[in-house]
Amino acid sequence: MTYDTFQQLNYLWMAVAVIIFTVLIKVTAPYGRHTSTHWGPQISNRLGWVLMEIPGMTVVIFFVLTNLPVQNAVTYILVSFYIFHYINRTFIFPFRIHTKGKKMPLVITCMAVCFNLVTGFLLGYYFGHFAHYAGSYFAQANFIVGALLFSAGMYINWKYDNKLIHLRQPGDTNYVIPVGGLFNFVSCPNLLGEIFEWTGFAILCWNLPALSFLVWTVANLIPRALSHHKWYKHRFADYPARRKAVFPFIL
Ligand SMILES: NC(=O)c1ccc[n+]([C@@H]2O[C@H](COP(=O)([O-])OP(=O)(O)OC[C@H]3O[C@@H](n4cnc5c(N)ncnc54)[C@H](OP(=O)(O)O)[C@@H]3O)[C@@H](O)[C@H]2O)c1
Repeated sequence: MTYDTFQQLNYLWMAVAVIIFTVLIKVTAPYGRHTSTHWGPQISNRLGWVLMEIPGMTVVIFFVLTNLPVQNAVTYILVSFYIFHYINRTFIFPFRIHTKGKKMPLVITCMAVCFNLVTGFLLGYYFGHFAHYAGSYFAQANFIVGALLFSAGMYINWKYDNKLIHLRQPGDTNYVIPVGGLFNFVSCPNLLGEIFEWTGFAILCWNLPALSFLVWTVANLIPRALSHHKWYKHRFADYPARRKAVFPFIL
């Protein structure tokens, strides 16, 4: 594939994300607290998470490992940011959540697999075929700023995923109003952290597939945060009125 064709594919993929965003604003994706039995066959929530997240990481690793001659150390470091996130999301997060007996629709798992396959392909193909980062890349401002933002985002994402997970005892599936820290400002600090992470990743990689991954992340997570926020307000009459969904004081 030529570089131009590859770039056009990325623009096309971003356009699809914009369409999906408009759909997700209207239709809440039915997993987690929004899970539904009206979306066909269901599978275990935990298995769903593992199956959803494993393809993206696998495809990226495949392309990087099968194109070793064009790689340099910088490429490996950039890819490792992505892999680091996905090791947690695929192999650790699903085994820590307290969602015993909970299920998600198989169709959601399949849609997420498709998304992760395409995203993983675009990132992996870029890193495997087109990436030519100079050895001095780590001293560039975009790498430093991006790496800091990614790290801060990951810290926030992990910290607030952790807080949410520990609102329940194992075996419990009830919901309570989370309080403290960023929860004083937004309903979904973990999603805010994830948006920071992939913003940082796009800045530190400075390539189109990382940007398209960010566009997809925003297209998924802003509607999800709005749905969570609406759900909280509906479920709890005493839900803090001044709390926003995902961006403090803004949205
Ligand atoms: N990159 C992407 O496109 C993308 C898309 C989606 C999610 N994610 C990431 O995946 C992670 C999970 O996201 P999510 O929206 O599915 O999860 P979430 O609603 O934030 O919940 C995380 C965990 O905490 C539990 N929980 C949440 N609120 C609770 C409450 N008030 N009381 C008790 N337990 C509560 C949830 O249980 P239940 O499952 O039973 O509700 C779940 O196990 C986040 O880190 C998010 O950033 C990324």
